[in-house]
Amino acid sequence: MQQDKLWNDWHPVCKAEELKDDPKQVHVLGERVVIFRNQKGVHAFKDLCIHRGAALSLGKVVDGKLVCAYHAWEYDEKGTCVKIPALPCKRPIPKKARATVYHCKEYLGLIWVNLGDEPAPLISYPEYDKEGFHTIICGPYDVKANAPRIIENFLDVSHLMFVHEGMLGDADHAEVVDYDVNFIDGRFITSKIPVYQPNSDGRSKGGYTDYVYEILSPTIARFTKTTEGSDEEFTILVAVNQEDHEQTSVFMLLTRNYDLDAPDEPFREFQDTIFYQDLDIVESQKPELLPLDLQAEMHLKSDALTIAYRRWLDELGIENGTMPIDEAKRNKLKKNSKTEELQPS
Ligand code: FES
Ligand SMILES: [Fe+2]
Repeated sequence: MQQDKLWNDWHPVCKAEELKDDPKQVHVLGERVVIFRNQKGVHAFKDLCIHRGAALSLGKVVDGKLVCAYHAWEYDEKGTCVKIPALPCKRPIPKKARATVYHCKEYLGLIWVNLGDEPAPLISYPEYDKEGFHTIICGPYDVKANAPRIIENFLDVSHLMFVHEGMLGDADHAEVVDYDVNFIDGRFITSKIPVYQPNSDGRSKGGYTDYVYEILSPTIARFTKTTEGSDEEFTILVAVNQEDHEQTSVFMLLTRNYDLDAPDEPFREFQDTIFYQDLDIVESQKPELLPLDLQAEMHLKSDALTIAYRRWLDELGIENGTMPIDEAKRNKLKKNSKTEELQPS
């Protein structure tokens, strides 16, 4: 896939608790990646043994080394091949015998991979460690759609009343008030957007809820819901891994500062229900690549946040999962606007 800005971004690939003794194959931006854990932490390599191209993820971790299943070459966490069983004694291991190493981190209960040479900083999610707050992880949900379509769906206020009617919205309260979108500290953030919700988080409590959305990166967004007169906060962080063309996996962190002793399962089940309500819609959207040319689809004022998102993806030059603006058209628009400027008023 394209080596755009996403190449230097961090992508969530699995829940940290799922990476145990065995290596695991994951996909990021079309790359086949193996992740594994040893005493020194978590590690990611291109999932390919340089000897005969076998997937290293078929192997196992022995004494902290990743051992290929085919001829048992052993790689340490730096990707250096430290043992070739077929090599007669004392013959040195060729320097070229290396695995391609990617950046890998355990963070927010997930394993994150970064393919780039100049990794961007990891996003911050302060609620995760905040006292009095509790986070659960939902997903990963497999979706046959590109990451920008999924992020847009998450940022879309005006569908709540229809796709999630009776839960996150009510068709008789479908109007979306005007709201602001600002770019502060490297991320987009909205003003409070009030939404009438019959059952906002599965507890069947109806009323107006205020949403504040943020776009943290091209593939990561969040919102926090609060209610006037209440200290309760509910936040969802969504992080999408663009595995390959039109194939994504979606992780959601749900954080609450109430009902801390209540079981997590109902919250998780509620989120699963909400997610699967969106799934058919998102997988049905055409074109599959998000059009960055704003003239390609229609927009309302209530779409201000997703308009800002599309413009930002264009500015960043994101080509994975998007349909960039046709250069010829862009030049023509520029030329026309110049001509207009030159005309006498
Ligand atoms: S293919 Fe991996 S050791 Fe031969
Ligand atoms: Fe939705």
